[in-house]
Amino acid sequence: MPVISVPQAFNEEDLYIDLEPMFGHRLFLKCEGFNFAGSIKLKAATEMVESAERSGVLTRDSILVESSSGNLGVALSVIAASKGYRFVCVTDSRCNLATRQMMEALGSQVHIVSHEHPTGGLLGARLEYVRGLCAADDRYVWLSQYTNPDNWKAHYFRTAPAIARIFPQLDVLFVGVGTTGTLMGCARWFRSWNRPVRIVAVDSVGSAIFGDPPGRRMIPGLGMSVRPPLLDEAYVDEAVRVEEADTIRTCRNLAKRGFLFGGSTGTVVSGAMSWLARHETRSLTPVAIAPDLGERYLDTIYQTNWVQALYGDQDLVPEAPPDHGVAGRESSTANGRAR
Ligand SMILES: Cc1ncc(COP(=O)(O)O)c(C=O)c1O
Repeated sequence: MPVISVPQAFNEEDLYIDLEPMFGHRLFLKCEGFNFAGSIKLKAATEMVESAERSGVLTRDSILVESSSGNLGVALSVIAASKGYRFVCVTDSRCNLATRQMMEALGSQVHIVSHEHPTGGLLGARLEYVRGLCAADDRYVWLSQYTNPDNWKAHYFRTAPAIARIFPQLDVLFVGVGTTGTLMGCARWFRSWNRPVRIVAVDSVGSAIFGDPPGRRMIPGLGMSVRPPLLDEAYVDEAVRVEEADTIRTCRNLAKRGFLFGGSTGTVVSGAMSWLARHETRSLTPVAIAPDLGERYLDTIYQTNWVQALYGDQDLVPEAPPDHGVAGRESSTANGRAR
């Protein structure tokens, strides 16, 4: 039984869902939403803050500032409150209301950018605002998740070894991409592991991460309108793109079975399932990473009016997929380990 005195000390690292009964392909989904920030970003935030403290960049007088579509902002709010720092989160109009309210409840200041930068879009406008703050007052410390190597190191030190410990026979790892911190940390760690692991990045259609032109993306978390500075494609075996309509379909399918996940999980699971359907996978051990849970998306992905206004009347709540005769099985601890 863990007993903690600071919120960042707790993170459930070993919870997986066996998705085969739901989707018909073997896939273990690593759940990263069970901590006090509700997402995988708690690890990146912790690593970046502690590294800045060690190097002396962050002091008692500092004011943390960061551009975030939400989850890193919540994670930094948790850590700032716990450690007694002020924190300003610069986000944009796509940030979910619940996420913004959570940051404010934790004592952070939230600045919402609503006009796009002439060439850099909403992200460009956020970054311009952050740069302005830092130029005006040297108490501001910008951790810069898009360029900070401590972002990927969090996953190199924690996420990847945790997966390897549970799945020593891992063959394929599916990772959703935003800053690419999770992808690069895991990919670098598995590159020097004792067996080859295929690293498959999963991105949204409309994201420019792998060189496509940027397009409309409405679901926060995954994708970027520019190429992420942390990305080194030499470590990535494949990139799969997922339409937002498929993300929503997959999220809603998971919810029908009682698993309420965020949009990036719907994207990763959808991309992984299409990859698995195209490969001979019966003897493979594949794992995908679920970055957060679904409460923050109740007014978007799980809201019929929002979905219909953006994606039209296409059927985004399909019939339940086949059960494969295992409905009612509640735990797969024994076969979840290293087959
Ligand atoms: C919900 C969610 N999924 C995925 C990601 C992407 O993770 P990364 O920035 O490590 O690429 C993020 C990043 O903010 C996120 O909030």
